[in-house]
Amino acid sequence: MDLNLKGKNVLITGAAKGIGKEIALAAARAGANIALHYHESQKEAAETAENIKKCGVKLVLVQADLSRLEEVQEMKVVTKRELGIIDGVINNAGWTQFKSFFKYEPGEWKKEMEVCFYGVLHLAHTFMPDMMDNNQGKFINIVGDSARTGDKNLIISGAARSGTISFLKSLSQEVGKSHVQCNTISLGLIDQGQSFDTVMLEKLIKQYPMGRLGKVDDVIGITLFLLSNWSDWITGQVIPVNGGHSMIG
Ligand SMILES: NC(=O)c1ccc[n+]([C@@H]2O[C@H](COP(=O)([O-])OP(=O)(O)OC[C@H]3O[C@@H](n4cnc5c(N)ncnc54)[C@H](OP(=O)(O)O)[C@@H]3O)[C@@H](O)[C@H]2O)c1
Repeated sequence: MDLNLKGKNVLITGAAKGIGKEIALAAARAGANIALHYHESQKEAAETAENIKKCGVKLVLVQADLSRLEEVQEMKVVTKRELGIIDGVINNAGWTQFKSFFKYEPGEWKKEMEVCFYGVLHLAHTFMPDMMDNNQGKFINIVGDSARTGDKNLIISGAARSGTISFLKSLSQEVGKSHVQCNTISLGLIDQGQSFDTVMLEKLIKQYPMGRLGKVDDVIGITLFLLSNWSDWITGQVIPVNGGHSMIG
């Protein structure tokens, strides 16, 4: 199946390392030009950029705090100058805290809301008008399954991202006529070499009908599919990639 991403300009946020880095590399291998966003991981971003350049695609490195609209807008100025209109945005960045609501100091929830919720609005408001003018575009937001199921220890990021699911469903109703699609990928726990305690790992795996945690490759396939024209009639959807951990119909 040819993904036909050659010449497409794709912005991947939080792509210096982790899942975002692997998505950026995979998209570059499929021929897409890459706008590689990072926030604080400058050194890792430069290393990832070197590897992407080896794929022979165009690349621009952009830095921004997604919670700050003016930084997102500046990122668009740079990507448009260096690559042209962005055809696909993959928002992989996130900032989450893992604890009970009552362990938060008052106001400590603000940053999670600003990055995980407002960050998505900033990206959509900044990059989508060009996509609409261009009569094509893919906006893909990556969240954790807590956004759909709730999780007492991911209570703020889950709530923020639950909001983005609703936001993108509503937005998809407006931008569909311009052939712009908005979809969400909802992830279970992805094994990135974290050091789990053996007993804890066994307990975790029991929650997954597929008998294992996710791999980064499990995320790449669906992301590239949603970027490609093979997904042209899919919009406003939430696609769970979670080994069957939750099955919400
Ligand atoms: N790993 C999992 O098991 C799992 C499960 C469910 C959902 N997810 C979600 O999948 C995505 C990727 O996961 P991951 O574990 O690879 O990455 P991650 O460490 O959770 O976050 C990805 C990137 O977000 C960026 N970021 C943080 N604050 C930012 C801000 N204010 N502005 C702009 N960027 C900011 C960071 O960039 P810099 O490093 O450059 O600062 C970071 O590298 C995340 O959204 C994560 O919440 C992951």
